[in-house]
Formats: sequence, structure tokens, C-alpha cells
Amino acid sequence: MQKVLVAGATGYLGKFVVQEFKRQGYWVRALVRERSLHKLEEIGPFLEPAVKDQIDGVFVGEVTKPETLHGLCDGIDVVFSSIGITRQRDGVGFMDVDYQGNKNILDLAVDASVKKFIFVSVIKAPVIEDLVRPRELFVEELENSGLDHTIIRPTGFFSDMSEVLKMANSGRVYLIGEGKNRINLIHGADLAKVCVDAVGSQQYEIPVGGPVIYTHTEIGELAFSVLGKAPKITRIPAGLVNVVVKMVRPFSEHYYTLAAFFATAMQVDLVAPQGGTHTLKAFYEELSRELLEEGSQTTV
Ligand SMILES: NC(=O)c1ccc[n+]([C@@H]2O[C@H](COP(=O)([O-])OP(=O)(O)OC[C@H]3O[C@@H](n4cnc5c(N)ncnc54)[C@H](OP(=O)(O)O)[C@@H]3O)[C@@H](O)[C@H]2O)c1
Repeated sequence: MQKVLVAGATGYLGKFVVQEFKRQGYWVRALVRERSLHKLEEIGPFLEPAVKDQIDGVFVGEVTKPETLHGLCDGIDVVFSSIGITRQRDGVGFMDVDYQGNKNILDLAVDASVKKFIFVSVIKAPVIEDLVRPRELFVEELENSGLDHTIIRPTGFFSDMSEVLKMANSGRVYLIGEGKNRINLIHGADLAKVCVDAVGSQQYEIPVGGPVIYTHTEIGELAFSVLGKAPKITRIPAGLVNVVVKMVRPFSEHYYTLAAFFATAMQVDLVAPQGGTHTLKAFYEELSRELLEEGSQTTV
């Protein structure tokens, strides 16, 4: 039986990846921070599964502290990592986590002679690449490591589009620019299958998106239609947003990077080869039931 290390096992994608590796018959070790152990037992905020019962071994450690990682890759055949900062506020930067944290895992993977390393970065698009520089620097390290590897390059995840549903639920969706740019977002379960299937793939890079291509306006309209509300969409001029985002930079590189990423993602087409079967409509329907339940609980 092949043994895999899943780094990022408490995240949106990582939980689906644990589930998919298990479904395909792998022995699974999960790297988890002490403070995040509880997430393994819980269904996540974007309906990602509880995975505690599917993990064969938990390794408690911090990717940013190499002294806590001794033995992490021992006996492991395949390493998967989706580790990176998305919503975390831990006082560490993208270079510390997306680059150095993954590099710390890679060094151990090389020492342990693992057979394959699978890494999740983002779709290749001109402006986007600059904004995920630390992740792409890690990609270069992986390419130079001599390890067999595959880099997965997804468009965007369904999890990120939950914000649009929340805005629609509050009555108005705000878009940056005209809302005409297109994206084919992908569900965590569909992307997880691509990641796990990559173990047997000869491809060094796999660009992938979901089955349906939407404009951002269509995504806003979909959110209202799932909630049974009339669409109210406000478009904020992209030039104005870009100026405001740049003004954030002197105060916080961290918030600048996050804001610039999301603002830019709405101003370019992010379309990759279509894969998977899960639709954003079905995801919104499931999530809206949760939102309505939450709402009814708070009004009781
Ligand atoms: N979201 C998107 O639309 C999207 C699109 C394309 C590519 N991607 C890439 O895919 C990656 C995974 O996305 P996701 O949605 O699964 O992210 P996520 O839910 O935030 O999961 C990120 C994982 O990284 C870990 N992590 C973050 N900061 C850490 C730190 N300081 N020390 C140790 N571990 C840390 C998290 O651990 P904890 O649970 O302990 O915080 C979690 O396991 C992203 O980093 C991004 O580069 C995302």
C-alpha cells in the first residue's frame, strides 16, 4: 500500500484530498498544527468533510518551524501540499509559509527519497503570477529538486465564491469592474481527484477548472436566483479599486497581497481546461440551506 503525506489537511482542498487518497486505497499521514487538530473532526465552513476517521497517522508540527518536523516524510511514498496562507492571520508572511514552509517539507521529502511531490499553486495568468510570487518561487525549488513532481494549477475554488452568496443574502452583490471577465471555478472534491490522479501522471503541470464557465455577473445572478431574490448588483469601477488597493500597501503588505489578488482575479479571464462534475449552483444550494439555518437560529 502506498503511503502519502497530506500537508494542508485542515484546509478546504486538503480535506477533500485526504478523503480522495483514502478512497483510492492509500495510507494517509496528515501534517497538522496543534491548534488546528479540532478541524479534522469538524465539517468545514465551506462544507468540506470531517476527515479524522480517514487519517491513519497524524503528525503534529509547524511547517514554519523545521525543528518540529523531524521524521515527517519517513516511510512516505508521495507528498501532497496545499499549505499556504488564505484567510489565516498568524503574524507570518507569504514567504514564511507559501515558500519557506513548503521548502521545509521539500527538504525532508528529498532526504527521505519520496517518489513524488504534488503541489497546488494557481492558474498561470500574467498579473496573478506576480501576486503569488512566494508560491512560484517554491515551484522553482521543486522543479530543481530532482524529485518527480506535478504542479496543479487550478482557477479558483468554490469556497471563495461563498462570499458572493453571503453578499446576495444581505441584499446586494458588489463586483469590481464590469463583471464580464470569465472564470470556471472548481469544487474541492473535483480538484482533489485531479490531485490524487496526478500521482500516476507524467505531466509536470496540470491546469484545471470546473465544468461551467461563468462571468462574475452571472455568478452574482446565480447567487440571487438560488436564494429566490431579485438580483441587485453594484459595479465598482476597477480603476478606483486598484487605487484603493495600492494605498493599503504601505500599511500592510499582507492585506495588500490578499486584496490585490481578489481584485485582479475579477479583472482577468481565469479559464482552464474544464474538469469535474460539481456545479456552483448545487454548491450554492447546499450552502444557502446552511445560511438560512444560521439565520433562523439567530432570529430565535
Ligand atoms: N482558494 C482558492 O480559490 C485558490 C485558487 C487557486 C489556488 N489556491 C491555492 O490552494 C492553496 C490551498 O487553498 P485552500 O482553499 O485549501 O486553503 P485553506 O483552506 O486556507 O488551507 C490552507 C492550509 O495551509 C495551512 N496553513 C496556512 N497557514 C499556515 C501556517 N502559518 N503554518 C502552518 N500551516 C498553515 C492551513 O492550516 P491551518 O488549518 O492550521 O490554518 C491549511 O491546512 C492556497 O494556498 C492557494 O495558493 C487557492
